[in-house]
Order: sequence, then structure tokens, then C-alpha cells
Amino acid sequence: MKVWILYDTQFGNGKKLAEAFKEHFPTEYEVKTGDVKDISPSSVAQDKPDVLILGGAIRMFRGAPKSKKWVKNLNSELKNLNYKVKYAGAYLTHGLATDKIQGHGKRFLKKLQKASMIENTHSELLTAQVEEQEGPIKKEEIQKAQKYMQDFINWLK
Ligand SMILES: Cc1cc2nc3c(=O)[nH]c(=O)nc-3n(C[C@H](O)[C@H](O)[C@H](O)COP(=O)(O)O)c2cc1C
Repeated sequence: MKVWILYDTQFGNGKKLAEAFKEHFPTEYEVKTGDVKDISPSSVAQDKPDVLILGGAIRMFRGAPKSKKWVKNLNSELKNLNYKVKYAGAYLTHGLATDKIQGHGKRFLKKLQKASMIENTHSELLTAQVEEQEGPIKKEEIQKAQKYMQDFINWLK
């Protein structure tokens, strides 16, 4: 299975999560990672991945606007190719307390669920709180993320 993990990072925390996610995948998965600012939706669509994991960050009270726009464009590109991504998941990094960002999480997940060229979206979104704006991700959040990653991979099987 081909997997793409995308993120929109400023200080590298989103990228770290993507790399941790990649390490959880067994070797039979071909996993690629990249920033939505560098990787075009058309190049990912043309690669015809089975799995998409999309990360983003909450900044200025806005939940992952670049990642949302990216997935909208990806959906258009997939339509052009008449190719459907089978599985998707999402994660958000944030500075505010976890209970304060649930609305952002739901709306971000909805963007994936609404994308007509994505067949199944994992019902749970991973959130990871950073200690300071620049990071690092809180220790307990790393443990939560590792459990989420394993659950996500089991869900694919
Ligand atoms: C300009 C700016 C605004 C931010 N606003 C918010 C915010 O409204 N809510 C929040 O939870 N975190 C906020 N943060 C913290 C970011 O979520 C955090 O820097 C980011 O998740 C770290 O991930 P990154 O290293 O991948 O960019 C803000 C950070 C910056 C730099």
C-alpha cells in the first residue's frame, strides 16, 4: 500500500509527528511525507496513494487552513484522474488546551469526510498539544499519538 503523510509546519512539530507516524508503518507500506507548501496536490494524486494522512496546525484561531485548501485541491485532481484514495486520517498540533480545540478538530476531519474521492476517513482525529508555540510536543501527547498511530494502522488491515 502507498501512503502519503502531509503536514503544514512552521517549527517542525507537524513534521516530527509525520516521521513518527511513518516509523510505525510495517515495511510493506511505502510511506512518503512532505509539507503541503512543497508538495502539490496533483503530484500526490498522480502517485495514486491508498492512504492519505493530513496534518495541520491551529494558528490565530484558525484550524489548518492551508491543509484544508490542499485537500480540496487534491479532491479536484483525483476527480480528473477518476482515482479514489481508500483511507484517510488527520492530525492537528495546537497550543491551547485539548478541550478548547475540539471544534477545529471536527471541522478539519469533516473536510476529509466531505471529499468525494476519499472512500473512508478514520472517525478519530489525532490532536497533539505543544508546550510552547515552537514546541516541543508535550510528553504525554507523544504517548497518545503513538497509540493513535498503531490503532490507525490496525484499522487499515
Ligand atoms: C502566530 C501563531 C498563532 C497561534 N495561534 C494558536 C491558536 O489560536 N490556537 C492554538 O491552539 N495554538 C496556536 N498557536 C500554536 C501553534 O498551534 C503551534 O505553534 C503549532 O501547532 C506548532 O506546530 P508546527 O511546529 O508544526 O508549526 C499559534 C502559533 C503561532 C506561531
